[in-house]
Amino acid sequence: MQTRVLTGITTTGTPHLGNYVGAIRPAIAASRRDEVDAFYFMADYHALIKSDDPARIERSRLEIAATWLAAGLDPERVTFYRQSDIPEIPELTWFLTCVTAKGLLNRAHAYKAAVDKNVAEGEDADAGITAGLYMYPVLMAADILAFNAHQVPVGRDQIQHIEMARDIAQRFNHIYGRDFFVLPEALIEEQVATLPGLDGRKMSKSYDNTIPLFAAGAKGMREAILRIVTDSRLPGEPKDPDSSALFILFRAFASEAESQAFRTALEEGIGWGEAKQVLYERIETDVAPMRARYDELMAKPAQIEAILQEGAKKARAIAVPLIAELRDAIGLRSGAAVAVAAPAAAAVPKADKPPRFASFRDGDGRFRFRLFSGEGEELLLSQPFDDPKAAGALQKRLRTLGGASAVVQTLADGTMLELDGIAVARLQMGEGADAADLALVRLRHALDQLAAQD
Ligand code: TRP
Repeated sequence: MQTRVLTGITTTGTPHLGNYVGAIRPAIAASRRDEVDAFYFMADYHALIKSDDPARIERSRLEIAATWLAAGLDPERVTFYRQSDIPEIPELTWFLTCVTAKGLLNRAHAYKAAVDKNVAEGEDADAGITAGLYMYPVLMAADILAFNAHQVPVGRDQIQHIEMARDIAQRFNHIYGRDFFVLPEALIEEQVATLPGLDGRKMSKSYDNTIPLFAAGAKGMREAILRIVTDSRLPGEPKDPDSSALFILFRAFASEAESQAFRTALEEGIGWGEAKQVLYERIETDVAPMRARYDELMAKPAQIEAILQEGAKKARAIAVPLIAELRDAIGLRSGAAVAVAAPAAAAVPKADKPPRFASFRDGDGRFRFRLFSGEGEELLLSQPFDDPKAAGALQKRLRTLGGASAVVQTLADGTMLELDGIAVARLQMGEGADAADLALVRLRHALDQLAAQD
């Protein structure tokens, strides 16, 4: 069983070394682990909250997609997509909005900070605050819950948002009476280094002290490194590595042995200018091959687009059935589904006997059931349940599910009917290449019959 790890990348600004070391590199490393099913996406709907400059939005999301791909993200392995390519996310946002307490959003740090600032300046409390900023946590909850992610790697500033997503998920589950949503957990990387910027404070766009990762080229990166603030010690004077931004940056790229050598050089009095050259060369060793891939990708935006469209397809294969199920649960069963179900039921000859369930106890004393077609073919065999009520509840749901809502998944041990992302019953099938397809057609027909009966 893999852990689904999901995180969003806000598409404003141009990635810098701090983003690479603090977020991109560890996320890509995590995505290579076998037990991780990674979903990484560009939060371009969130970007609209921060920027209304179309050119900037467009450029940033392209640069960020190219950056992650150039840095080694494997789109075959990771589900890598753009938020705005998944219409189920805004749809889910609305479903969640309707169960979210307004008071919860009033307490969001970002919104509160904006209000506090207004009040301190003697403005109206909500001056200049969009409903987009206010709704930010709900959109973020939808990002996570649409894929039932287990873990969400984020910075400390995002912990509250994950707690809100849990809260909202719980409330929805409670109101609609089932565990539709997994409750996500924040994953805080304690190990990850925060890099100092040009002025020694944390490298951050808001301090305007960043070293661009790819966008400025090797020359721009070198120039930025030369601008890193140092103390006034002269060549020949010993330098303190641990208080030096140069050393901290170096260590984020180098091996233990390389770092030791650089430490010694500083302690032995290497000049700051020379030390900056050493730092530049070390970083460039890692960055140069990635930058070459980045430049290549940026020259072929159609290639990036194709990768993202593939990613959107993979992502929607998860989100679409979940949203269909939610629509059903909240009373928004689509008119189309009802219209399709009705004639199909009408087409069934009167003499056609209805499908039926048969419950039994297996050798371990656990409760199971089978579903048979009117003709007596076995269609489904349920998983065993310790509690007969659970088996009964499942039968009850199957009676109203309807064929169009039946989601199946091919697992190592057969084709399984899924409800809420959980395999609940095995499709019984004959031999042959299209046996699985046939079994599904028969099952859908039987579920339509049952739904029409009710
Ligand atoms: N708010 C996150 C940030 O600023 C970005 C984000 C949007 C996100 N949606 C998400 C992160 C979903 C994790 C999961 O960093």
